[in-house]
Amino acid sequence: MNLNRIEFRRGRRCLRLRFYPEGILRVSYHDQENVQTDAVLLEPIQPQTMERKELKLEEEIRWQDLRIVVNKKELTLKIYDSFGLVQEDQEIRTGAKPGHSRKRNWEAGIYGLGEKYHWLNLMHHTMENWNTDALARVPQHCTALTSMHTAINFYLGVSEERCVGWYYDNPTHTRFSFDHGRGEMAAGEGEMSFSADGGFLDYYLIVKHSPQEVLTAYGRLTGTSPLWPRKFLGLQQSRYSYRTQEELLAVAKRFRKEEIPCDVLYLDIHYMDEYRVFSIDQKAFPNFVETLQEVHALGFTVIVIIDPGVKLEKDGQVALPGAKPEYFIQDPKTGKPYVGVVWPEESLFPDFLQKQVREWWGNLHKAFVKAGIRGIWNDMNEIADFSTKSKTVPTRVTHQDDEGKIVTQKEMHNQYAHYEAKATQAGMRALLKNQRPFVLSRAAFAGTQRLAAVWTGDNSSTWEHMEMSIPMFLNMGMSGFSMVGSDVGGYAGDPSAEMMIRWMQLGAFTPLFRNHAAIGTRHQEPWCFGDEAQAAMKKAVDMRYRLRSYLYSALWQSHQEGIPIMRPIYFLDQTDVRLYDVNDQFLFGDHLMVCPILRPGQRQRMVLFPKGEWVEFKTGKRFTEDVAIVEAALDEIPIFVRAGAVIPLDMPSQFDPEGEIEELELIHFEGEENLKTKLYFDDGQSFAFESGAYRESWIHVEDGILREEILRDQYSAPVMKSIKKR
Ligand code: GLC
Repeated sequence: MNLNRIEFRRGRRCLRLRFYPEGILRVSYHDQENVQTDAVLLEPIQPQTMERKELKLEEEIRWQDLRIVVNKKELTLKIYDSFGLVQEDQEIRTGAKPGHSRKRNWEAGIYGLGEKYHWLNLMHHTMENWNTDALARVPQHCTALTSMHTAINFYLGVSEERCVGWYYDNPTHTRFSFDHGRGEMAAGEGEMSFSADGGFLDYYLIVKHSPQEVLTAYGRLTGTSPLWPRKFLGLQQSRYSYRTQEELLAVAKRFRKEEIPCDVLYLDIHYMDEYRVFSIDQKAFPNFVETLQEVHALGFTVIVIIDPGVKLEKDGQVALPGAKPEYFIQDPKTGKPYVGVVWPEESLFPDFLQKQVREWWGNLHKAFVKAGIRGIWNDMNEIADFSTKSKTVPTRVTHQDDEGKIVTQKEMHNQYAHYEAKATQAGMRALLKNQRPFVLSRAAFAGTQRLAAVWTGDNSSTWEHMEMSIPMFLNMGMSGFSMVGSDVGGYAGDPSAEMMIRWMQLGAFTPLFRNHAAIGTRHQEPWCFGDEAQAAMKKAVDMRYRLRSYLYSALWQSHQEGIPIMRPIYFLDQTDVRLYDVNDQFLFGDHLMVCPILRPGQRQRMVLFPKGEWVEFKTGKRFTEDVAIVEAALDEIPIFVRAGAVIPLDMPSQFDPEGEIEELELIHFEGEENLKTKLYFDDGQSFAFESGAYRESWIHVEDGILREEILRDQYSAPVMKSIKKR
């Protein structure tokens, strides 16, 4: 008997259960083969042991810790783990608009669903996934926007003893409702529902105890963050735009003069010749290559923006070598490539679903790579289109898959950026040979986390947007996306000096740390707000640079285990439900808790402490209470360390020179327990780690002595300079 699937049929309805590694159960209400999206990496397994029991109306299947009860008439499921009922289906809809609703039985918290401008816990809300250029639709990001730039149909349900992940593998427009009252899209009270505009009802269920375990399994299912080059963990400075080579060089020199650490500078759309992708404006950048060389010599790396919109020239052609009409998405109305409007005005959009197009596009990065560029910024890929009311390409436009089959926007819209990221990653990887590329994308689908970092699009310089970025990042982390950030200081609008300081302090503890601002807004470089503000910002950035090895080790954990760098504080104690709704504090790696200041004029704030003893990083003050008020002068961000942990600090530096880390300072925050700290080192830039050229260990302090448990020793270790006690 083939045990890798069990099939039930009732009339035209078909239910297939398939068993995957990591204890993942796939539930499909169709009998099609190979319809999974590109998000899914795993293949089903043949379970070794499984019991099946036929009852009158039901069949009961036991697999690992799960008891799956199939109602043979309705093809609905009841699923139990060792604690009891996990899922009880109410309704299954197949056909043109598939859907699934189940009873809310046990969940206290709902998290994930990618990038949502929303509070952390999504319970009692309704959300949609249809990739949207958010600022093109509303004057400012707000909670009324149920869709933003990403479509990640994955969420976690959490309670004191259990965590369950549901991944709905459906690329069309989807909707989720979590115990939300009736409304146009909502399910109803006590109901957890999913529905889609097309495709199939096909989901993967991951039943575990902790969110960490679910995220590790989800990471195996859809991939984890790449181990980004260490340099890109430094401060990134951007603006729409640094318009000339002189301006770019001046920004680079000013960072070094002011001794504010920075590693990455951006070229936004003005570096191009009339916004033609893969071109250079020769008037503004007559010595593009030489300028980059100078900037690189100052210790920076430069990222260039590449949008999907390719300018349609007056003669009806596009100015890209090798382009063919069939390489672009098509308009059935004209039988020609679809013409939309973006920065270069009339534009065509590459059909990244085709392998030949991905290869062609990937290769177009050649001249950039030759000029020393390793980072590419893919923007506007929802796809943004200024010419339509929806601000995206019309649903009628079509793609073509590699077998020549026509694929509609309905299925491709949410996946467009994913396939673009695939083209960019593969192209850059091939061109860079042994060097790691960096890719930043605005839109994404499930699985894009293995191809690109993501930022939250065009936010505004408001305190609210700074505050909301925290739950946004945390939910993105719980959707597989670890390398996330938002425009520090805000994209639209003008931040005050105080807001800029507070935002830089927060940004210093977000995985992607990028200061970016829109055209026409106040300049946001750290020296633009006066001496006091500059000193405060420098202090925050210096701290970030001292935590480089700690952060890089956390990125390694994301890469290996799918655990995000930024985590909600309930990860430390799932039994403490008071932590389920904490939006304004977060964990940064294993041992730090960051409690930023998010309001003007505030010099104190409340902190909730997960169980155990905590030590304030700066003062060494100890906290064992559940809640406390702490001080935060304008140049301070409250940071707490778990008592018993060792925090490695890099030596102060202006940029990451890449290669070996020579020296580390260790600080032991004494405590009852001896907590372990992960340390990971490699050259920070090549793929040698993939063949084992790295050093990984756990360190802890026992009776005042540093102990190291080495897991792999194939790269040089820094000198661990001194152990300071705090
Ligand atoms: C989009 C991006 C923004 C960029 C601008 C110009 O609005 O989200 O970051 O600066 O386009 O390229």
